[in-house]
Amino acid sequence: MKKSLVVAVAGATGAVGREMLSVLAERNFPASSVLALASSRSAGSRVPYGDDELVVRELTRESFRGVNLALFSAGGSTSLEYAPYAAASGCVVVDNSSAWRMDDRCPLVVPEVNPHALENHNGIIANPNCSTIQMVVALKPLHDAAGIRRVVVSTYQAVSGTGQKGIAELESQVRQLFNGRDPEIKTYPHRIAFNCLPHIDVFLDNEYTREEMKMVHETTKIMEDPGIRVTATCVRVPVFYGHSEAINIETAKKLSAREARALLATAPGVQVCDNPAQTMYPMAVDAAGEDAVFVGRIREDESIANGLNLWVVADNVRKGAALNAVQIAEELLKRDLLAVRAPDMFVK
Ligand code: A2P
Repeated sequence: MKKSLVVAVAGATGAVGREMLSVLAERNFPASSVLALASSRSAGSRVPYGDDELVVRELTRESFRGVNLALFSAGGSTSLEYAPYAAASGCVVVDNSSAWRMDDRCPLVVPEVNPHALENHNGIIANPNCSTIQMVVALKPLHDAAGIRRVVVSTYQAVSGTGQKGIAELESQVRQLFNGRDPEIKTYPHRIAFNCLPHIDVFLDNEYTREEMKMVHETTKIMEDPGIRVTATCVRVPVFYGHSEAINIETAKKLSAREARALLATAPGVQVCDNPAQTMYPMAVDAAGEDAVFVGRIREDESIANGLNLWVVADNVRKGAALNAVQIAEELLKRDLLAVRAPDMFVK
């Protein structure tokens, strides 16, 4: 591939933005230059990009002139404000926030599941929620084979999902507790050190959290099947990197555990790790820094006719965010889709 693309990362100083830069460099993404953008607070600071460092510039509406591709991970409000101007400059945006995910004009893409959805993009492409990405990568081959009717998922989500401030909160609370001090609570509503919080994002009128409802709505959009019923309980746990999920599915057709294991063994992006006799199952500490979605504890649900239980773990900052965004960009390149058809579509 020719190194002729100008690429911007908006939110380059954050947990996901830094990982985006690292994944772009690792995978030799064909960029002739890379711009690191963040708030005015960070302008002039430096972030690593492969063996080099980039000087961070302030994100403005004019940042995208001459830029071909922008990866955004700077929060929903920043994305709502700046992504339309990026698209208006002819720059294709892959946005990691929730701002555009359920917008009918924006494809919501996991390359292993629905890469064809990119064909109709209008300049802004949404990267799904971290918990949803790893779930649909594991569910897609099972859905194709047996038709998933219902999904019941409980998540165990790492603090890096909250960005740098989540990581800092767990680190400082552990240090404070080991020093006999009261932990300072800044980021989460309660202490996260040695605790579990069944509360991610805000509570909605239906008593679910927004994180839980993201899993419900995003799954049907990505799997392109509104018939899949999903219910979720999302829990923040004191883990730095790696989301784990206990997933129960009910299928139209019977699928044995052995058949499911065989399907998952050849599924793109999946690595089966399932040998309980040898105490082998996916764990967050092993998934951290890896690209795959790890699936284990595959077993039949004996309480219903056609059901399976799975344990699914992935690095939430990598496959759950930065890697998926870069894979979308690679797919855009492969399909020759790095152009904006209707530049003014999103500008109000
Ligand atoms: P900054 O470091 O200058 O605040 P995280 O999710 O790890 O908290 O990171 C959020 C990222 O989004 C950071 O790079 C942060 O930059 C960036 N960001 C937050 N608000 C804005 C804004 N209003 N304009 C540009 N970048 C922003």
